Amino acid sequence: RRGRLEVPVIGVAKSDLTIEGLVERAKASITEHGGGVDEAAFAKLIGLLRYVQGDYQDEQTYTKLKHELGAAQRPMHYLAIPPSMFGTVVTNLAQADCINNARVVVEKPFGRDLESAQQLNETLHGFVPEESIFRIDHYLGKEAVQNILYLRFANSFLEPIWNRDHVESVQITMSESFGVSGRGKFYEETGVIRDVFQNHLLQVISYLAMEAPSSLWPEAIRDEQAKVLHNVRPLSPEHIVLGQFRGYRDEPGVAPDSNVPTFAAIKLYIDSWRWFGVPFYVRAGKCLEQNSTEVVVDMKSAPPVVFNEAQPENGNYVRFRLSPQVAIGIGARAKKPGEGMQGEPIELSIVEAPRQGTGGRLEAYERLLGDAMRGDATLFARQDIVEAAWSIVDPVLNQTITPQIYDCGTWGPAEADVLAQPVGGWRCG
Ligand code: BG6
Repeated sequence: RRGRLEVPVIGVAKSDLTIEGLVERAKASITEHGGGVDEAAFAKLIGLLRYVQGDYQDEQTYTKLKHELGAAQRPMHYLAIPPSMFGTVVTNLAQADCINNARVVVEKPFGRDLESAQQLNETLHGFVPEESIFRIDHYLGKEAVQNILYLRFANSFLEPIWNRDHVESVQITMSESFGVSGRGKFYEETGVIRDVFQNHLLQVISYLAMEAPSSLWPEAIRDEQAKVLHNVRPLSPEHIVLGQFRGYRDEPGVAPDSNVPTFAAIKLYIDSWRWFGVPFYVRAGKCLEQNSTEVVVDMKSAPPVVFNEAQPENGNYVRFRLSPQVAIGIGARAKKPGEGMQGEPIELSIVEAPRQGTGGRLEAYERLLGDAMRGDATLFARQDIVEAAWSIVDPVLNQTITPQIYDCGTWGPAEADVLAQPVGGWRCG
């Protein structure tokens, strides 16, 4: 509809679909999730669709794909497939001569831990140079996440206070009100730390905490992300509360005695000059009370010496609402009208926008796949960033921490509240 897609799109899968079946499926999907079908745009899309049916293990699949690719000069292979298949598919693509000059987009999770991520990198690098590998993390394609970077470095007022002298704590809550939505088998392999913490939430932390990049050059930004992630202290079990929503074990594909966590609350520290001693509290979970993702950077309170009122903690803050709406607000206190010197909390709104994908805003995937097709890697995770992120979570991945069972529609296990007590409890959500 925006006129950005001008090249053939070849679907490759085992399903016994015909091209007509694929078109039907695309139509149903756009009707249900894409806000309705625009007939002219859809006609253009189906004119570009192709389908190759075959098993990823079968060489014939790649011969057919090569045929469909025809004289394509710069194909982009988008591997939205089980991670265990990345190596097989890339090897077969290479053997069928489909990978020369190609770009390869790889879906998360990129590995299961540091070691497997390194092995996967080695396999990919055997056929594709690093500059042609695009590790997708759709959080980086979100307008609201990019606005963290923009707000920090396009203004001068934040930088003097964006450090351990002025920031009391940082909190991030990624709360989802739904469960694993039929993805039980996938979730059993991942759990909350691999699913959203190792990637999405650490990427958000890197934008919040990094030093100013020297320019917009992709490597300048990614260098700073890598640097700050290298300074994040590896997680330790005493700073983590894990939970599992009641009913998870009854989901299809889930083991009846599964201990896979669907909730985590984590306290972490960044051992850098800027952030030393500032606690970062992060929680994420399925089946929680709300559907929202939010960051709150709490500033230290003003000294309670002038006004005769109890100074509340957390009066000054910067709030980034990442979803469902996009918002940025600054918390302040202002005088209540009247004779007394009594205050009230107010929030100054910097950005207030409906959700991404509306009003001309690009959806994250639309943005990222377009960037990859143009070869712009700024919003993709580089190998060293992925490895730094695994190094942070690796120490707790193999720990047998039994998750606490929590009821759906709550904020997770009560222990998570105890974790955040030193800063007055969880603020966002
Ligand atoms: C995905 C996770 O990467 O991100 C899901 O696998 C999660 O479990 C999703 O629900 C959240 O992304 P968004 O953009 O829908 O908030």
